[in-house]
Amino acid sequence: MKVDVLLGLQWGDEGKGKVVDVLTPKYDVIARFQGGPNAGHTLEFDGIKHVLHTIPSGIFHGDKSNVVGNGVVIDPIIFVKEIEALKQYDLPINKRLSISRKAHLILPTHRLLDAASEKAKGKEKIGSTLKGIGPTYMDKTGRNGLRIGDFESPNFNEKYEALKNKHLQILAQYDFEYELEELEALWFEAMNEFKNYKLVDSEHTINDYRKEGKKVLAEGAQGTLLDIDFGSYPFVTSSNTITAGACTGLGVAPNQIGSVYGIFKAYCTRVGSGPFPTELNDSTGENIRKAGNEFGATTGRPRRCGWIDLPALKYAIMINGVTELIMTKADVLSYFEKIKVCTAYVYRGETIDYLPFDVVGEELTPVYEELNGWSEDLTDLKDISNIPKNLNDYIEYLEKVLETPISIVSVGPDRSQTLVRKSKWTVA
Ligand code: GDP
Ligand code: IMO
Ligand code: MG
Repeated sequence: MKVDVLLGLQWGDEGKGKVVDVLTPKYDVIARFQGGPNAGHTLEFDGIKHVLHTIPSGIFHGDKSNVVGNGVVIDPIIFVKEIEALKQYDLPINKRLSISRKAHLILPTHRLLDAASEKAKGKEKIGSTLKGIGPTYMDKTGRNGLRIGDFESPNFNEKYEALKNKHLQILAQYDFEYELEELEALWFEAMNEFKNYKLVDSEHTINDYRKEGKKVLAEGAQGTLLDIDFGSYPFVTSSNTITAGACTGLGVAPNQIGSVYGIFKAYCTRVGSGPFPTELNDSTGENIRKAGNEFGATTGRPRRCGWIDLPALKYAIMINGVTELIMTKADVLSYFEKIKVCTAYVYRGETIDYLPFDVVGEELTPVYEELNGWSEDLTDLKDISNIPKNLNDYIEYLEKVLETPISIVSVGPDRSQTLVRKSKWTVA
């Protein structure tokens, strides 16, 4: 069995958590392959909202395995908080969850380095989630990192101290005050929690599942436009958020990737700094933020809002080899008389239909087409055949330009508010 991948095509927060939860009944295994607690994946069902950061979004379903792959970075403190928040639901998490020994650890000093670096950048800051993501991946590629598997070795504390001391030397170069002791005590206490979980060589786990004919869904974090190589560099995260990241982050060979589900919002959002050609700094942007409740699931920051950006989406579809599209938050666009769609940009006086090399600091003016909106509420719809005509036109317009089928349309945050456009999908 090949591994299917679901990942974001924009700047994150496309609704990955919700849709992975909806698709989980179709799969045996859900695996995270990159990112870490910078992710905030929201799931809603039975009137309860859950936000997951490290744990894959299949965790609420019985008989399913959830794997945190080698490409993920883990902060034990945040991991323990997630576990605590789930305790009241009595889920057998330690049976359902396994964690790669090769996943890198976020140390307290990684978090401090993230904050110190952002402070030093001032106005040029990335707008990071301050979870220590950048410094942890830097230590991974710099070959200094500490992995979860090191916790099983007798010299774990020595390795920790060596890396911490390296960090303290770097911190001394910043004009940055910090308090480490309390954080460090919490961190060591949290590390002990891993004794209750299965630490595995997840590349074998995943490939064994595959060979047994089990269906694996790889769950992306962040989005393609935040990818370290193909995103709006340097305003990106520090991992490969794209389909290729599922190969390196799980140990799955490229020829073992099956369907690729690209998820996008019916409009566009971004949280943190960096270019956003279709951003709306006006009342329309404000209305989208309010209707879509666009506030970060991890940091609570207001998300920047704008119209859908087709050149960027086409780029993301190309990079990821997307086979099917999933559109979320269609309900948020109800009541807008007109919906704008960016089809090209004016860049240095020329009209172009691709993202140029360096959009940072460059004026990229969107060229829009205008479509008719719809004035019906979508949130109670149960069947795609009942959607308003203008929404159907919007979907068909997007499919045609993007040359990729849209197989799911999400019309609300709840599990049940999901409309399937192809008969091969039967959604729980
Ligand atoms: P993720 O990071 O991609 O998992 O997305 P987030 O959870 O950060 O952000 C998506 C937000 O939109 C969450 O609050 C979801 O509950 C919510 N959401 C997901 N799909 C829909 C939808 O179709 N309509 C509406 N109104 N909200 C949605
Ligand atoms: P999910 O998985 C939206 C953004 C941050 C910042 C940049 C770098 O919920 O879609 P980092 O902390 O990774 O060094 O921050 O990336 N960012 C996200 N934006 N959703 C996310 O994850 C994000 N994870 C990181 O806001 O601009
Ligand atoms: Mg999110």
